[in-house]
Amino acid sequence: MAIRLGDTAPDFTADTTEGKINFYEWKGNGWAVLFSHPKDFTPVCTTELGAVARLKSEFDKRNTKVIGLSVDPVDSHRKWAGDIKDVTGSELNFPLIADPDRSIAMQYDMIHPNASETATVRSVFIIAPDNKVKLTLTYPASTGRNFQEVLRVIDSLQLTATHSVATPADWKDGDDVIVVNSVSDEEAKKKFPKGFTAKKPYLRVTPQPNK
Ligand code: BEZ
Repeated sequence: MAIRLGDTAPDFTADTTEGKINFYEWKGNGWAVLFSHPKDFTPVCTTELGAVARLKSEFDKRNTKVIGLSVDPVDSHRKWAGDIKDVTGSELNFPLIADPDRSIAMQYDMIHPNASETATVRSVFIIAPDNKVKLTLTYPASTGRNFQEVLRVIDSLQLTATHSVATPADWKDGDDVIVVNSVSDEEAKKKFPKGFTAKKPYLRVTPQPNK
């Protein structure tokens, strides 16, 4: 079954490069990014895992744990980690799930049979502290993902979870944000002491409130 925004992320227990992990226990009360790869020893995946390893401190700053998944077994993942270090210079510093029976891939709908009967597509799930799915992305095998974009979405999700704002196109942390339409002008004056500009009655912008 497809996983949709607002669904509870399925729990699972799996072998990983960091030992057996129960997803909910490992994740705790923080945020998580779960992302899948078509298979081990493939070129695009090698660059992606190196990129995420390089950004690990950025995920840590956002109280976000990262975990990858590939359907190959854990001994294969461990050998592949050596190549990832060779090629990208980054040590695999987060767990990579082995899913040889594809049970997790099926739970998360990571296999799209019209793309491949056996390999997982490049899925990304951002999961909130309450285990609800906040973002899904699906990329084809031939396109490596932009993990700066994943960080940008986490910034937006964490901001909009605690303030009555939304973030506009191409927003990045520190840019102006949009006052949500459920907030009246009167309320907005109180909630956003730095003021707001009404470009249209339905489009009011204000400086990012937590900066
Ligand atoms: C890759 O990661 O390079 C890849 C994986 C599966 C199909 C095509 C490319």
